[in-house]
Amino acid sequence: MADVTGLLELATDLADQAGQLLLDRAPERAAEVATKSTGTDMVTAVDRASEAFIVGTLAKERPDDGVLGEEGSSREGTTGVRWIIDPLDGTTNYLYAIPQFGVSIAVEIDGRVEAGVVAHPSIGETFTARRGGGAFCNDRPIAVSGKEDLSTALIGTGFPYEAERRREAARWLVPILPSVRDIRRGGAASIDLCWVACGRLDGYYEAGLAPWDVAAGDLIAREAGAETSDFEGGPVRPGSVIAASPGIAAALRHLVSEAGQT
Ligand code: IPD
Ligand code: CA
Ligand code: CA
Repeated sequence: MADVTGLLELATDLADQAGQLLLDRAPERAAEVATKSTGTDMVTAVDRASEAFIVGTLAKERPDDGVLGEEGSSREGTTGVRWIIDPLDGTTNYLYAIPQFGVSIAVEIDGRVEAGVVAHPSIGETFTARRGGGAFCNDRPIAVSGKEDLSTALIGTGFPYEAERRREAARWLVPILPSVRDIRRGGAASIDLCWVACGRLDGYYEAGLAPWDVAAGDLIAREAGAETSDFEGGPVRPGSVIAASPGIAAALRHLVSEAGQT
């Protein structure tokens, strides 16, 4: 039987320490920048240093666990525990000194996420959850907004890096934007999900994410009372994520799936 409390504590320590690393190394944010999937998908030396710190510590503390990290760390484990890591979510913001960036770590056991942490170091917030145990920001319980009316709901979203998929995301916005209070594009998907969890956003949708963007934030949002699903109402997939306060969840799902068909 895995000690989920202990794993969540370790994940929280790692996310907070990696978050501090991001702040400490901010002066060198632009020193070494490369591109990945497209010319707009960037990676800095700090993304890599954050992942090396997290994965290096796990290799000492939990050597038999599996790992999936955005910057290439991938290891099969033998314990059934796998760590899903975005060492710097919001790299574009980080490069431009915009404070919306963080560290996301999820603990999956036998294929299901049991604990998750998102650290947002520039404003000193750490979101945590374990399955069935509620969601917290800096150890205080959090809950979704309770919004009932989509037309006055503030909705977050994000855009993928590839040009053709961006065109598609822009096309979806045409019917969505006039149907809600306003749209926010925060630039760090894991924090967007935590902001649904604590009521700073009423809902959020995005297509084309990766497992490390979503794994921790989805659990935190659900544990705070959000309904999360893919655009069709099935289980969340990285490629298709909606999270919303329950009173607007069905209406947002309907709006997003209709928008996708226009
Ligand atoms: C990105 C951010 C962004 C989302 C992108 C992600 P990265 O992650 O979460 O908000 O819109 O799709 O790839 O590249 O900064 O780790
Ligand atoms: Ca990310
Ligand atoms: Ca990242």
